[in-house]
Amino acid sequence: MASSSSNPDDYVEYAEGLNTRKSYGIYKRAAKIMPGGASSHGQCFPVFDPYPLTFERGKGARIWDADENEYLDFILAMGPLIHGHAHPALVKAVQEQAEKGTMFAVLHSKEVDLAEKVVEMTKLDMVRFSNSGAEATQTAIRLARGYTGKKKIIKFEGAYHGGHDYVLVGSGGNGPPTSLFKIPSSWGIPEETLANTLLVRWNDFNALEKTVKRHANEIAAIITEPVLMNLGTVLPEEGFLQTIQELCNANDIVFILDEVISGFRLARGGAQEYFNVKADVATYAKALGGGFPISAIAGKKEIFENLVPGKVFHAGTYNANPLCVAASFASLTELDRPGTYQKFTKLGNMLQEGLERAVEDTHTTAIVQGVGPGGCQLYFTNLKKIRNFRDSLTCDASKYMKMHKKLLKRGVYFHPQQNEHLFICTQHTESDVEECVAAVRAVLREL
Ligand SMILES: Cc1ncc(COP(=O)(O)O)c(C=O)c1O
Repeated sequence: MASSSSNPDDYVEYAEGLNTRKSYGIYKRAAKIMPGGASSHGQCFPVFDPYPLTFERGKGARIWDADENEYLDFILAMGPLIHGHAHPALVKAVQEQAEKGTMFAVLHSKEVDLAEKVVEMTKLDMVRFSNSGAEATQTAIRLARGYTGKKKIIKFEGAYHGGHDYVLVGSGGNGPPTSLFKIPSSWGIPEETLANTLLVRWNDFNALEKTVKRHANEIAAIITEPVLMNLGTVLPEEGFLQTIQELCNANDIVFILDEVISGFRLARGGAQEYFNVKADVATYAKALGGGFPISAIAGKKEIFENLVPGKVFHAGTYNANPLCVAASFASLTELDRPGTYQKFTKLGNMLQEGLERAVEDTHTTAIVQGVGPGGCQLYFTNLKKIRNFRDSLTCDASKYMKMHKKLLKRGVYFHPQQNEHLFICTQHTESDVEECVAAVRAVLREL
């Protein structure tokens, strides 16, 4: 099937082969009036090739598309659905709040309940809420600059921290792979904006130390994900996160840990607890809201005291709106049920080991990298390990896309891109994982 056609009519055959004619019809309507037929670059071609399926409903770990095909979901909306779809506790919390009022745009008591819970779980001193991960990382960077009086930031190649100008470099985008390391990942970003963003290779201790040494007096923050989950699952090497923390402490640099994906997922206290590191500022979103748009920045008091009128600006009409706060409080409360993280660990390991066995038994040239409770990813590569962005670019992404399409036919929903990640939710069962592994095994035999 030609995958890059700009004529939606070319996709009829594909739509019929997958029994997704209704999805396709909806996409065609969208493509006429919405650029790319979507509301986000992450939701249209070429990420989804040739077009994204349209989903009508979800329950637990399963979703149904417009043509009533059922899928076992391992994308979970790119991570937020830590309790799966339409979890009764979250639905109830939101319904109850909707009856009482949906917006006040001023402090409400549930917001303070949530703030206390986040502070307690993350072991950080203070917190502010906003709506998306990008808003959280943008504010974190502004706060670090305001607090230190310095301008530059370090970000790692391939890391994604949201669609705002400070960090949209070296993270995929419009250019060919060779240009990914230096130029903005989008048209419309002035190069001057990125003059203060220094790129360093992930897991490269030497390059990091050298860059900090050279620019110590100019660097306000080092921002990193604890595990690069926007490159699949690229783990930090032993001591790498601790080295970042030490370099920050020694050089008056703010350590921003982007826990938008890892927060409340790797452990109750997120990656800080899982990897035993202490961030100066951490950003949270996805699992925090359990599928509702809420994010948080949390951090040390001496830094956060500057997030006040007259100092560092932060605002938003929808910040901490009661519906999202209610969902978030319910999501965190559900996570506190006994055995939650043991279950994530068990299912995460089962998935990783099952996929590893499937790779071995089918003699596939691939590896699986995982982070226990946080899920895993399969890479089509002959490398023994993916350590950074450059390694990930050598993997066979088109084979991954083929696997995704074949899995759809077997009722298993993986993300089409190898640089995404397989997520577990509280509603997945051991038999779901077995079903997934069996489907992958069958597909690897066909590929
Ligand atoms: C680590 C990380 N940070 C920030 C973001 C941006 O979050 P949002 O899409 O909610 O703006 C993402 C989104 O995937 C992310 O994975």
